[in-house]
Amino acid sequence: MNAGRNTSVSRGPVVAIDGPVASGKTSVGREAATRLGLRFLDTGIMYRALTWLALHCGQRVDDDEVMGRLAESCSMSVADAERPAIIIVDGHTLGADDLTSEEIDRNVSAVAAGSAARRALLMQQRAIAADGGIVMVGRDIGSVVLPDADVKLYFEASPEERARRRLQQQKEAGSVLEYQQALADTNLRDRLDSQRADSPLTVPNGAIVINTERLDFAQCVAAVISRIDAGSDAHS
Ligand code: DC
Repeated sequence: MNAGRNTSVSRGPVVAIDGPVASGKTSVGREAATRLGLRFLDTGIMYRALTWLALHCGQRVDDDEVMGRLAESCSMSVADAERPAIIIVDGHTLGADDLTSEEIDRNVSAVAAGSAARRALLMQQRAIAADGGIVMVGRDIGSVVLPDADVKLYFEASPEERARRRLQQQKEAGSVLEYQQALADTNLRDRLDSQRADSPLTVPNGAIVINTERLDFAQCVAAVISRIDAGSDAHS
């Protein structure tokens, strides 16, 4: 099931936004979606929820076969009206505290590296996008999940700027993180995301790159909305 270009526009555009950690894609994508009356899905929380479920069930997160079976058998439903989103996985309601814990952060890259788990989540993501009218955010949305999306965007910013943003987010959440540690984490996650064998982070074919380094939040949202408007017009 794919979100086809010709069929989806009448029901609202399909927009793919990819980019590295802390590039702003989730907060900006969500705001742009809200303003345009589109649905929004941050696919990262699906990987996080699957990681939570595996740890909860005592499964090995680095066993591709086991994780694939778990991903195929679990039911996920995302309630993005909450901010940050809540996801219900196999009857467990997970919020920000569950999804962004250190334990999840430590294990989620191994889950995201598993091909079987990725295949199962990809099917769910395509099914969600099939009705059109959605902004979907992740690492492989424009390249693998929705290669025929009406609008494909790729956010970028330097590791230093993204580390500063993470520091700010952590401060607002009441946690103390050193800049050097934030920068090391950012570089590590970039390496894991872009060097994995299956669906690595890359600029998708046909994507418009938005460098968010010197843009504030409102400017990023405006840039995304104008690209979506232009892309939707071009395909209608
Ligand atoms: O964006 P995030 O930090 O919440 O993502 C969590 C993990 O899932 C991270 O390791 C990247 C991975 N991910 C992915 O591989 N593909 C996606 N479409 C979204 C996230």
